Amino acid sequence: MPRRILIAPSVLSADFGGLADAARAVAAMGGDFVHLDVMDGHFVPNLTFGPKVVADLRPVTDLPFDVHLMIERPDLWIERFADAGADWITIHLEAAVHAQRVLATIRQRGKRPGVSIVPATPAEALSEVLDDVDLVLVMTVNPGFGGQQLIPRTLRKVEALVRMREQRKLRFLIEVDGGINRDTARSALEAGADVIVAGQAVFAAADPAREVAFLRGEWYHEEGMNR
Ligand code: DX5
Ligand code: ZN
Repeated sequence: MPRRILIAPSVLSADFGGLADAARAVAAMGGDFVHLDVMDGHFVPNLTFGPKVVADLRPVTDLPFDVHLMIERPDLWIERFADAGADWITIHLEAAVHAQRVLATIRQRGKRPGVSIVPATPAEALSEVLDDVDLVLVMTVNPGFGGQQLIPRTLRKVEALVRMREQRKLRFLIEVDGGINRDTARSALEAGADVIVAGQAVFAAADPAREVAFLRGEWYHEEGMNR
């Protein structure tokens, strides 16, 4: 049976003057999660928004919020983002010395814990926390900005994580984030990604719903139509 691919459109590429519209648009385009990129200007060289924005967006859609914390000291913020209505909370391994404890806190709070690694971090560095997560987010660009180009070798880490998951009989989802578009989605899915984050590819598209369907792997259908 083919696995179900989930799409998490990132509102980072939307107009921040109309974030509620962007969150509604994610549902309309057929997204499965709303991906919310939180940046602190320290862990990454950019600033976005905090828990209040997440809380204010919460009533706008029933879709799960996939909150990607690109911040130092994520332990100080788990409670606030959980209260704000995050469903999945992903921290960076590189930003938390005591990542295991932070992930356990997210779980205790009744939220889904995720861990992310930047391109310079090997998949093996996740070994000791894989039992504690429901999601591993493999950054396919250096985080901080939308609209960058995917770094191809990061997809080898997706393949490695598929193997680690199988060997250890775990069930976490593997998510990829950064530079995923029509040209790169197929290689990400073939590597084994379960969840695709897309910013520019969907928010800059003339027909976002068609783009979401394409990223989900419905290219066979589209290729058929083109013939
Ligand atoms: C980048 C963010 C991504 C970003 C992806 O640091 O984590 O979620 O929105 O944007 P695209 O798909 O445009 O690369
Ligand atoms: Zn992200």
